[in-house]
Amino acid sequence: MSGKKILVTGGTGYIGSHTVVELINAGYEPLIIDNLSNSSPKILNQIKKITGKEPEFYNFNLCDEKLTYEFLETHQDISGLIHFAAFKSVGESEREPLKYYKNNFYPLINLIESCSNRQMNLVFSSSCTVYGEPDDLPVNELAPVKKAESTYGNTKQIAEEILEEVSGVNENLKVIALRYFNPVGAHASALIGELPVGVPQNLVPFITQAAIGKRGAITVFGDDYHTPDGTCVRDYIHVVDLAKAHVAAIEHMENSQSAQRFDIYNIGTGRGYSVLEVIHAFEVASGQQLNYKIGKRRPGDIEKIYGDVTKAANELSWKAELGIEEMMSSAWEWEKYINQNPL
Ligand code: WQD
Repeated sequence: MSGKKILVTGGTGYIGSHTVVELINAGYEPLIIDNLSNSSPKILNQIKKITGKEPEFYNFNLCDEKLTYEFLETHQDISGLIHFAAFKSVGESEREPLKYYKNNFYPLINLIESCSNRQMNLVFSSSCTVYGEPDDLPVNELAPVKKAESTYGNTKQIAEEILEEVSGVNENLKVIALRYFNPVGAHASALIGELPVGVPQNLVPFITQAAIGKRGAITVFGDDYHTPDGTCVRDYIHVVDLAKAHVAAIEHMENSQSAQRFDIYNIGTGRGYSVLEVIHAFEVASGQQLNYKIGKRRPGDIEKIYGDVTKAANELSWKAELGIEEMMSSAWEWEKYINQNPL
């Protein structure tokens, strides 16, 4: 007997594919919509290798209002929606803001408009970026949202506002926004993981590519911050733990009558690691020696952030279980896999 159908937009992407696996593991039947603008269709077969099931896949752009409406109309048995599909490069968003506002808002609006006449539980992929440089640490969900440091961060802030307002007037719609900290690592099978396009902008994929010889020395963007070793601190979270948080959010909205119409949860580990600590943790976990040099600060970087994650533990019965060692070792196993098996 198939489980409840959950629509996963961007489901062939990094976090989306891991979430599809955990939905299947939890007995759900995920359907994927993805325009493959930043992912490979081969991921579908990888998901089948892991779970034994290949989810239904629909390849179209959710910016197309007609196609989106027709899809939801012809899939009345979809009870939940996890919306990942969006552009996510901070740097690119600064260079092409309009591209980001179109691509990160048109699909969201088309989706919520297409299911406005029926009960829908929606999980939104948000980001700790909305906090900017927090005044207090660990940062909790009541912390003020600060002026976004990038167009990307602004699209997340505005999307949360849209969802809060629409769910406030449409009693059919329940929303949970998950504010991710820094997703890293890969599934234990090493069959799915992060597939950065071009030179990785994020720390961990750059580390694994440097370790396998695809990149030169790592540049540490500044060591003159007010942190123990001078390098920036982030709350890194294993992508599998993050994926499980999405299942917990769906289950919460299905089962808890007390669920708010709109709610926000930090999804992190509650612990911060510096850039140098991550580099060292990778060397220990992988047995690979890394070359790095200290460079200038990267514009837009905040100094330190890590989350207060007690709300998700108390209300979603979710907490991160995997530590930095598993984050680093799984990232390394994935890098070695795709080096031999390009997707
Ligand atoms: C981490 C640290 C860099 C590369 C990302 C996403 C953002 C959000 C949170 C989801 C920083 C340093 C990096 C390198 C380095 N995720 N670094 N050398 O900037 O915290 O934000 O996660 O929404 O969208 O961009 O992550 O991995 O880019 O950087 O020293 O070659 O590593 O300065 O301190 P960031 P990151």
